Amino acid sequence: GQQRGLEQGWPKFGLEIENGLRDFDEVFGRSAPRTFEIGFGMGHSTLEMAAAAPDQDFIGVEVHKPGVGALLSGLVSQKLNNVRVHSCDALEVLRDCVADASLDRVLLFFPDPWHKSRHHKRRIVQPAFAELVRSKLKIGGVLHMATDWEPYAEYMLEVMNVAPGFRNLAEDGR
Ligand SMILES: C[S@@+](CC[C@H](N)C(=O)[O-])C[C@H]1O[C@@H](n2cnc3c(N)ncnc32)[C@H](O)[C@@H]1O
Repeated sequence: GQQRGLEQGWPKFGLEIENGLRDFDEVFGRSAPRTFEIGFGMGHSTLEMAAAAPDQDFIGVEVHKPGVGALLSGLVSQKLNNVRVHSCDALEVLRDCVADASLDRVLLFFPDPWHKSRHHKRRIVQPAFAELVRSKLKIGGVLHMATDWEPYAEYMLEVMNVAPGFRNLAEDGR
């Protein structure tokens, strides 16, 4: 299924980082609320969100090829046309392919937690990450992060609470 997804889906939904800065209105053939998902894994939540919101557009980025194949396979079988996929480092895509102030939402769901303290520097959430995301979000845009590892949630708060330009939208501020 994943191989078939890559073969059938990539020509239709795949985007190449080498093409540089993209006009996503042109890519999607319309102007719609735009979500950028970092590390979609096997693409389960991407598929669900895209199917539930056909009036919105989604750009998903994942380094893990089998996951890319799985999402593409789902897009083909569900006949969805509101998702485009990059198969590479999401931060490079943000930097090189996404115009400033052009995204409504950035999603980071269950990023690799890197439990050991000597590995914390590998965590994707860093001050430079927050600044990159801020520059790509429209004014009023949302960065939505989720984790099931409490120390990572606390670490996310530490980074985001001092990141310029962000306000915590969680009801209890946590
Ligand atoms: C723990 S998984 C979570 C996957 C998915 N978001 C979910 O909730 O099931 C983290 C994913 O992020 C991907 N990832 C890590 N760093 C990335 C990066 N810089 N760019 C794109 N994907 C990345 C990994 O390959 C992995 O699939």
